[in-house]
Amino acid sequence: MSASQDNWGVDRSDDDTWDIVSSVGYTALLVAGWRALHAAGDHPLVRDDYAKHFIAASADPFLNGALADPDPSEGAAAFPRLYGVQTRFFDEFFSSAAGLGIRQAVIVAAGLDSRAYRLRWPTGTTVFEIDQPKVLEFKVRVLAEHAAEPAAERRDVAADLRDDWSIPLREAGFDTEVPTAWSVEGILPYLTGDAQDTLFSRITALSAPGSRLGIGALGSCLDGDRLTALEGDYPGLNLSGGVNFSTLTYDDATKAKPAQWLADHGWTVDPVRTNPELQGDYGRIPHQVDIDLDEIMHSEYVTATR
Ligand SMILES: C[S@@+](CC[C@H](N)C(=O)[O-])C[C@H]1O[C@@H](n2cnc3c(N)ncnc32)[C@H](O)[C@@H]1O
Repeated sequence: MSASQDNWGVDRSDDDTWDIVSSVGYTALLVAGWRALHAAGDHPLVRDDYAKHFIAASADPFLNGALADPDPSEGAAAFPRLYGVQTRFFDEFFSSAAGLGIRQAVIVAAGLDSRAYRLRWPTGTTVFEIDQPKVLEFKVRVLAEHAAEPAAERRDVAADLRDDWSIPLREAGFDTEVPTAWSVEGILPYLTGDAQDTLFSRITALSAPGSRLGIGALGSCLDGDRLTALEGDYPGLNLSGGVNFSTLTYDDATKAKPAQWLADHGWTVDPVRTNPELQGDYGRIPHQVDIDLDEIMHSEYVTATR
């Protein structure tokens, strides 16, 4: 049995930790698996060619099986496509920030995000990656084994986002005087409402004027019955490797809506888009399964300027 299957069902605690095959850490591997599947499919919107290396190195049977023998069904492409769209959103976010002259980036809850290696960063850019230590160690080790080189000055910030991560971030050389491009991808469901507010407050306090913030938010208050029904309509849709998200995420109905929080705290927020709307922007017609899925996931892609 894989470690990913061993560790489910644990309740969260305020100071829990994980590696790449346990608890919240496995979600980083899972979404890397979706990126790898999307890259291997027909007409990908974006290619993360490092993602497959993480899956191989993990030896996780579910994700390695899914990659070795991809399910050709309509449902099985949906989560990989959702993440392909999201990956493109953040790739374009960073490239547009670079176009604005921003040379400092922070990838919050970086997981197995390979943008520090994959994107064409302008000379002089520093990319800080924040996540739990074992997650970052795994990423750096696997990429080094494949002789991958960062394409910017990359700095690890091994920290828990529920603690004051601004201290290790500054110690790693973060400059509060220059504008920053921040990505917040795939983390909000794993934080309580209070922890989410604190995260946004810290980002705001550290953001010099002109900073940009990109957020990809999928709902944590998912309607389990509707998802089960959709899985019935689209066999293969459930590509979660046995993850029971309800044991990992905080289903807090009072959580602030990210765009509203930012607007209330001095950010100028661009129009919010959903995952199917982004597909339209990328010249694709969303499949019906994507539209149905989004009615459950309630995706929101937010960009804002400080
Ligand atoms: C779904 S993964 C997303 C990873 C990455 N942003 C991506 O989209 O590929 C969630 C990530 O959040 C990180 N994470 C969740 N809670 C955290 C916390 N309290 N402190 C540090 N990292 C955290 C996990 O370690 C994991 O890498």
